[in-house]
Amino acid sequence: MEDQNNTIAGWALFSGIVALGLGSLSAHYFLADKPERPEKMGYAIEGVVSSEGEGAAAEEPIEARLAAGDPAKGEAVFKKCQSCHTPGQGGANGIGPNLYGVVGEAVASGRGGFAFSDDLKAHGGNWDFATLDQWLKNPKAFAAGTKMTFAGLSDGQDRANVILYLNTLGSNLPLPAAPAAGAAAPAAAASDAAAATEAPAEAAKE
Ligand code: HEC
Repeated sequence: MEDQNNTIAGWALFSGIVALGLGSLSAHYFLADKPERPEKMGYAIEGVVSSEGEGAAAEEPIEARLAAGDPAKGEAVFKKCQSCHTPGQGGANGIGPNLYGVVGEAVASGRGGFAFSDDLKAHGGNWDFATLDQWLKNPKAFAAGTKMTFAGLSDGQDRANVILYLNTLGSNLPLPAAPAAGAAAPAAAASDAAAATEAPAEAAKE
């Protein structure tokens, strides 16, 4: 009987050792605890200004991007939209609705009887600058069942520029005020204010 107990204890010990070994082996192979996880993940994306790995979180607020933007550049960005949208007053609806005067209008309203998706119609609200920014970043995230089969504009300044261009199409709404200095140094207003105070984003670029 004692012999058998020893054998059982022996096997238990043995299997424990094997389990330990396997555990560290698999951790090694699958890097389960990622001991060598690189500090900087992924790779730099062209056109994305990243200050010390803040990544997407470092994007300027829409107000600042609008203030630094250029509707003429936005007209160039609009080439990506032209296969589906006309910009002119009274322009025809195509795959997407005519976009004259869309800035400030109710989401998915009128547009000469364009058949909007239920999801976009259900969204409600107006196309203000921030809402357009969100929409153009990722239409599917904004309204899951949208008919706008467009991946979105990942570049925040491209979005601001094209929104500025859309605003020239009969809307001409006043631009929202840039956020107070200190909240996040806006690119345009940063030059003098930021020079005096601490401006991590600006400093990092040098
Ligand atoms: C592949 C075609 C396609 C492309 C490219 C496209 N759109 Fe659209 N867009 C649509 C469709 C379709 C809708 C209607 C969406 C719905 O009903 O869900 C729409 C809706 C919109 C609306 C809402 C209109 C309203 O009255 O509510 C805006 C604003 C808009 N698009 C802007 C743009 C901009 C700016 C671009 C380029 C950066 C663009 N779209 C690129 C097809 C497209």
